Amino acid sequence: MWLWDDQGKRYLDALAGVAVCNLGHAHPAITDALCEQAGTLVHTSNIYQIEQQELLGDALCAEANMDKVFFSNSGAEANEAAIKLARLYGHNQGIEHPTIIVMENSFHGRTMATLSATGNRKVQAGFEPLVTGFIRAPYNDVEAIRNIATSNREIVAILVEPVQGEGGVNIPAAAYLNELREICDENSWLLMLDEIQTGMGRTGRMFAHQHNDIVPDVMTLAKGLGNGFPVGACLARGLAADVLAPGTHGSTFGGNLLACRVARTVLETLNQEAIPAHAAEMGRYLLNGFRESLKDRAGVVDIRGLGLMIGIQLENNCPEIVAAALERGLLINVTAGNTIRLLPPLVLDNTEADEIINIVTDLVSAHLA
Ligand SMILES: Cc1ncc(COP(=O)(O)O)c(C=O)c1O
Repeated sequence: MWLWDDQGKRYLDALAGVAVCNLGHAHPAITDALCEQAGTLVHTSNIYQIEQQELLGDALCAEANMDKVFFSNSGAEANEAAIKLARLYGHNQGIEHPTIIVMENSFHGRTMATLSATGNRKVQAGFEPLVTGFIRAPYNDVEAIRNIATSNREIVAILVEPVQGEGGVNIPAAAYLNELREICDENSWLLMLDEIQTGMGRTGRMFAHQHNDIVPDVMTLAKGLGNGFPVGACLARGLAADVLAPGTHGSTFGGNLLACRVARTVLETLNQEAIPAHAAEMGRYLLNGFRESLKDRAGVVDIRGLGLMIGIQLENNCPEIVAAALERGLLINVTAGNTIRLLPPLVLDNTEADEIINIVTDLVSAHLA
């Protein structure tokens, strides 16, 4: 949970490298796996059978109820794989311009296709022409999706975050994903969940969609999957799993032995130490703590969270809070201009949670004074 700067000052990490180091820093199981594999074999090529990749693929598919995985090096690349999969799925049905529904305020990455899918003009500005084939809908608005279904015959998939991270920790209605699942089933669209930020225990379940008891057709992972080692994954199930065949997509580094060994150890450790359940408990603790400490404070618009993905929305922009927190020895982040975002490692304890609550409460009070 702790980091030290070049002056020896100690910081409590409530950001985890933006939802990456879910097991904290220098977790011994991850360090051991990394060192042992680095001393054995790092990389061969997908030309050859890679046992570590098969083991991780099997473990992830079993965990997520999916059939196949493509491994990448980042979240954006995992989403690229999903986008290519959806387009090929459409073309295989004779759809000329396969179109994917994406959401306002979403974030899917910074490659050309993923920034085009992203619902944030700042991410896109200056990089036009954008990639076509996306249609945008408001987040958490099922009616809007139904309207698109009746008017556009070229839709092949919905790409959506179970909780929007960069967009401001936006948590949809409890049944939102269930309703999207239904619409996808009715229209033979693929439900593609971007769990790059929400996955790997972050929201209090291994994957956020497990709160809804549904299974997507495609799911992308990265961030917490390697606990800091770069690795991403695009998982697919059923019909979706048969779309990309050998030769249709690939990556030199994706899924090499070192990445897969580390990611497998991350998954094992999350399970062995029951980290997702702990994240759920600590998330409730932090939310209750903030709701108490910031109770009746004018200027606090909302305090929301799912597991250890927590947002405190203020009535005005609060970028200076990040530097003020650093002064106090705490790493946090502000997103969407006015929302303090907390994404601590999932291994935090009550004492550390209390410290986060105390410091952030002070900073919010100073900001609103
Ligand atoms: C939901 C989501 N999707 C995709 C990405 C892109 O991942 P990467 O930065 O590894 O390309 C991010 C990164 O913040 C994300 O939060």
